[in-house]
Amino acid sequence: MKFINTGILGVGSAIPPKIVTNFDLEKILDTSDEWIRTRTGIHERRIVEDGVCTSDLATQAARAAMQSAGVTAAEIDMIIVATITPDTITPSTACFVQAKLEAINAAAFDISAGCTGFIYALSLGHAYIQSGACKRVLVIGAEVMSRFLDWQDRSTCILFGDGAGAVLLGPVQEPGILGFKLGADGSQANLLIIPGGGTNQPASRSSVENRQHFIKMCGNETFKFAVRIMGEVTQEALDAAGVGKSKLDFLVPHQANLRIIESARKRFELPEDRVVVNIDRYGNMSSASIPVALDEAIKSGRLKRGHLMALVGFGAGLTWGAAVVRY
Ligand code: ACO
Repeated sequence: MKFINTGILGVGSAIPPKIVTNFDLEKILDTSDEWIRTRTGIHERRIVEDGVCTSDLATQAARAAMQSAGVTAAEIDMIIVATITPDTITPSTACFVQAKLEAINAAAFDISAGCTGFIYALSLGHAYIQSGACKRVLVIGAEVMSRFLDWQDRSTCILFGDGAGAVLLGPVQEPGILGFKLGADGSQANLLIIPGGGTNQPASRSSVENRQHFIKMCGNETFKFAVRIMGEVTQEALDAAGVGKSKLDFLVPHQANLRIIESARKRFELPEDRVVVNIDRYGNMSSASIPVALDEAIKSGRLKRGHLMALVGFGAGLTWGAAVVRY
């Protein structure tokens, strides 16, 4: 079987206009700007207005990606949305996006892989193009984290923000997506979980009263895992792509904590300007962090066609994944 080369044809993102600073959070929580900045690197995050949901941000990001690629909605074969904050449990957020885009020829589905969702979705989109099954695949990472945060829990709610990013994948002459590595360890599921609302703990008066529909995280354990896995999986993806770390132009990491990003930067001996960071302005946008960072690096002119990058994520599941891509 002959494999088709896959590349990124267009990139886009959508960021809600409303800014919530650490100082705003000081007014509702026992926290401080100083604690949040020094422990996480976050200064502010974006939060959607009432009535805006995940598919709205996803659609906006998808439109921007389609526009930058010069592709119309009718040309899209498949829409994959990575999210842990879907509009509804069923149908998928991707189906709402399909309707909003009027992408009448597209199949649509969601995948859930925590903050690694975008990398998992990218690997799927790549496989569909590579096999010849699809010609134009929209891969979107979109989250409205603010609706699943417990605003009384200072250890989690300060970390996250809302946003969406999208890439449009298609066949290309020279290979764009060069190698992947994905992984999971479900035995660690409780480290980062929304316990209520599924078959294990259906919505009930007590599940609501006990705040079971919000994100719960063991920050410390997740932190140690993230530091270890980010370096390991990036190296494994480089090996799968047959590329030495000295060839990397950019690292585009998941934005969970500046200290985690710094540890990966040092491991790959990259100068600061070769690591894309936006956690200071947006916090952790889960599946959206990587594609938003990618879009901003391209729009600002830092990341150009021909550059070699490693995209790396980790999160709930636990899950992890990295992709080596020539843009
Ligand atoms: N303001 C002030 N104090 C706080 C806050 C806050 N917002 N939150 C916690 N504290 C306190 C704690 O109560 C604790 O106090 P104590 O010592 O009196 O008990 C103290 O600060 C230290 O708490 P730690 O949890 O040990 O702080 P740590 O340095 O580990 O930082 C953090 C916490 C920022 C959450 C860090 O552990 C982290 O970034 N973890 C990784 C998160 C991550 O990568 N998640 C995965 C991706 S997310 C996804 O998949 C959806």
